[in-house]
Amino acid sequence: MLDEEARAKLWSRLFEIIEDYMRHVHEARVSPVLDLEKIRALLAPFDFKSALEPLEAVERIVAGLWQYQVHTPHPRYFGLFNPAPTTASIAADTLVAAFNPQMAAWSHNPFAAEAERHLVRVFGERFGYAIEETDGTFCSGGAEANHTALLTALVHHFPAFSVEGARAIPAPPVFYVSSQSHHSFIKAARLCGLGTSAVREVELDENSAMSAERLASAIKADREQGRLPFMVIGTAGTTSAGVIDPLRAIAEVAIDEKLWFHVDAAWGGAAVLVEELRPFLEGIERADSITFDAHKWLSVPMGAGLYLTRHTKILEQTFSTAAGYMPRESREFGVHDPYDHSMQWSRRFIGLKVFLSLAVAGWEGYEAAIRHQTAMGALMREELEKSGWKVVNRTPLPVACFIDEKSNEGADPRYLEAIAREVVREGKTWISTTDMGHGRAVLRACVTNYRTEAEDVSALIEALNDARQHIARR
Ligand SMILES: Cc1ncc(COP(=O)(O)O)c(C=O)c1O
Repeated sequence: MLDEEARAKLWSRLFEIIEDYMRHVHEARVSPVLDLEKIRALLAPFDFKSALEPLEAVERIVAGLWQYQVHTPHPRYFGLFNPAPTTASIAADTLVAAFNPQMAAWSHNPFAAEAERHLVRVFGERFGYAIEETDGTFCSGGAEANHTALLTALVHHFPAFSVEGARAIPAPPVFYVSSQSHHSFIKAARLCGLGTSAVREVELDENSAMSAERLASAIKADREQGRLPFMVIGTAGTTSAGVIDPLRAIAEVAIDEKLWFHVDAAWGGAAVLVEELRPFLEGIERADSITFDAHKWLSVPMGAGLYLTRHTKILEQTFSTAAGYMPRESREFGVHDPYDHSMQWSRRFIGLKVFLSLAVAGWEGYEAAIRHQTAMGALMREELEKSGWKVVNRTPLPVACFIDEKSNEGADPRYLEAIAREVVREGKTWISTTDMGHGRAVLRACVTNYRTEAEDVSALIEALNDARQHIARR
């Protein structure tokens, strides 16, 4: 434990470091020069044999972070769904680290547990659930929320699953995703003991979305072959192309077939907060469960996943277990213990960063931020087209997938990879390549930062055009 004087020095320096990062990250290279030897050389002197001065240790670590990190909070990071955290959410996570609430038992942290419950209900309501019928839990992220969805769907369909496991299922169980669904469902199938052959990929339509007609045919064919369909997964904002599956049509198939309907809205779910985007997610209110990651478009530090459901007993049926060392006051109050709703036992107060950020910004603040990023996405698409990049994905969300119309090799995966690498090597902006299904390789750029402005979009276009020229000269 440091003494008061040392703590005061540490806190004040930490404050400077964080403030400096927030003020100056836009001046840094977005991506690091990857040099494994140099990184290991920075770490090697930490042999932990002698105690370092706290400030010295901190300065050395901060130097490493500045130098060797893709700066996802940089306004020119056009990458995966990684946010620039809001100030309030950084403050909240700092408080959580200091107070260190243990979220296993309600009675240990009734304030924290009730704050999370409050959030579960208000987010459920924003997605169209009746507030009194909403239940849920905070998770480490979308992957855990998706895993939770698969488990709850299994328990719902095969009530003996909790006791017998996969042996409770009388025929091979199958559930439906598209090839553009998040890969976490593959892992979840393994973790639930189903194996990956239980994951059925429904063919995409021409817009890389799940086709509801093909879903219906796949279910029929599986039933005819003696398999047991139990769940359908729609995505609201695919990882590659930000495509929103036709949720209403998928919901209808799922309801007709009596299957659990899960919507993975890890990133795109934030669109329900904005009036003009909300209609694109119509049908989500019919989902049995929803994955939503606050650490994506709500701009809080990782990880803050949310699993929501309108089946108020299902989490308890899935996770509840007796533990003799557990405090039990929750029963007296008719509330549940968080550990009964989740795989996690010792758990961080994940919800506070969402709570404080929302309390400080209000829904209005978030609406404005989401609207701004959507406008920057539209501008990005426009500017790309003006420079001869052809945008090939269709989504109202701020992610563009594109190929190069000005080059004969403009759709060749190796050419596109070379462009992305050159952009990243230059370090002024960050983009990636991906595949939109049907073997279609594309470049991908996504506005993920509420501080991204028109000049940052221009810098991206310039970097792409420079990369194109650089490669043409080779
Ligand atoms: C659609 C979708 N679902 C789930 C996930 C997994 O979320 P996490 O990284 O929080 O585990 C992602 C991550 O990008 C995603 O894009």
